Amino acid sequence: MNDKDRTSKLWGGRFHEATDSFVQRFTASVEFDRRLALHDIAGSLAHAGMLARAGVLDKEELRSIQDGLQQVRGKIESGEFNWSVELEDVHMNIEARLTELIGVAGRKLHTGRSRNDQVATDLRLYLREAIDVIAGELTGLQSGLVELAAEQADTIMPGFTHLQSAQPISFGHHLLAWNEMLERDHGRLQDCRGRLNESPLGAAALAGTTYPIDRAHTAGALGFSKPAENSLDAVSDRDFVIEFCSFGAVLLTHLSRMSEELVLWTSSQFNFVELPDRFCTGSSIMPQKKNPDVPELVRGKAGRVNGNLMAVLTLMKSQPLAYNRDNQEDKEALFDTVDTVLDCLRAFAGMAPAITPNKEVMRQAAGRGFSTATDLADYLVRLGVPFRDAHEVAGKAVAHAIETDTELAQLSLETLQGWCAQIREDVYEVLTVEGSVAARDHIGGTSPAQVRAAAQRARALLAAR
Ligand code: ARG
Repeated sequence: MNDKDRTSKLWGGRFHEATDSFVQRFTASVEFDRRLALHDIAGSLAHAGMLARAGVLDKEELRSIQDGLQQVRGKIESGEFNWSVELEDVHMNIEARLTELIGVAGRKLHTGRSRNDQVATDLRLYLREAIDVIAGELTGLQSGLVELAAEQADTIMPGFTHLQSAQPISFGHHLLAWNEMLERDHGRLQDCRGRLNESPLGAAALAGTTYPIDRAHTAGALGFSKPAENSLDAVSDRDFVIEFCSFGAVLLTHLSRMSEELVLWTSSQFNFVELPDRFCTGSSIMPQKKNPDVPELVRGKAGRVNGNLMAVLTLMKSQPLAYNRDNQEDKEALFDTVDTVLDCLRAFAGMAPAITPNKEVMRQAAGRGFSTATDLADYLVRLGVPFRDAHEVAGKAVAHAIETDTELAQLSLETLQGWCAQIREDVYEVLTVEGSVAARDHIGGTSPAQVRAAAQRARALLAAR
């Protein structure tokens, strides 16, 4: 056979013709998996170190592989590395360059390993690092929210159900509700980190390898908690990608709810809060506009992150063991989720501490819509009236206030006593929004004292991370 007709691929031994140029482009992943380059090098260094301990490489060969990989890393970090689509993916680009630099020792690096365990290792290392960065951003956002909540413990706003004014609450309490959602997101993120932190190295293509490898050694060198238990599973499952994307989808769902509230609250109809100009943009046609684009975009990005979760779930569905090339499709969805999550967290971390409430508007709104009707009923219960009867009396008071176009706190004592003779002057204490909020004085309640205590507990949790 004529040598120039043969493919020059690292795997080209059994091939008789060059890869079709479309197939080359279609199967190549280097355009996106080069993001894994530094993790690929870390994995190779650990693998080479282990091969030398096992006597597969001699000292000289190990040193030359280590030097070569450092040089490759330098070129990648300085942006001078020449990535080639013909070399298909990040793994073969790096290995080929290494061999160019150091010669035959480079061709020994792949002993006892396959791209299948290599890519599974790289991806776990990459995601573990990304998770740590994301956890830091999440903690920053939560700290901002908790501090704002403590400051705003006494600020009163309407609490809603069905987006109808329900009962007055502390604005700080509302912000701490957001923090609770994020606290659970942080827990999900850490769960994902804990489960992904096992080393696939040594699984090789699928069945393990015949060399006397030390999987515990490579696992330890790369900071994994242990070698993955089963070689077939280690190269094939991407449930850690699914779990991360699922974390991202829940987080963005939470951020989209917060965004939606900010969009509502900044509208002229609500006018509850101001966002700083630097987080808003104007309209090219309507000079008066200040649009809450940042929360709107975060709300929109939830769609994209949900889509990524669907993509990786569907990618994994029905795949037979062990590795299949389908898995190459996990990367773009994962990378996009990491990028989007980070951007949205940074947007919120910058914006949240700068939310400025229009306290008087919020307080006025909290008093409208008969939001203290439950407090009137509770007051009657304290006088010995059964709750159902108390509910009925409070309902009559509301109906009367609607008919006479007034508020509950404006009804005269005489009028109130018309429904229940035991009502006294002190009823007005519970009919005010301040009285209503202060009365909900238990763990998880909205009284300013409880909000301050809850903020303190949240602070302590964040400090202990
Ligand atoms: N680029 C591939 C991936 O991301 C590398 C894995 C191995 N390829 C193979 N043909 N066995 O999954």
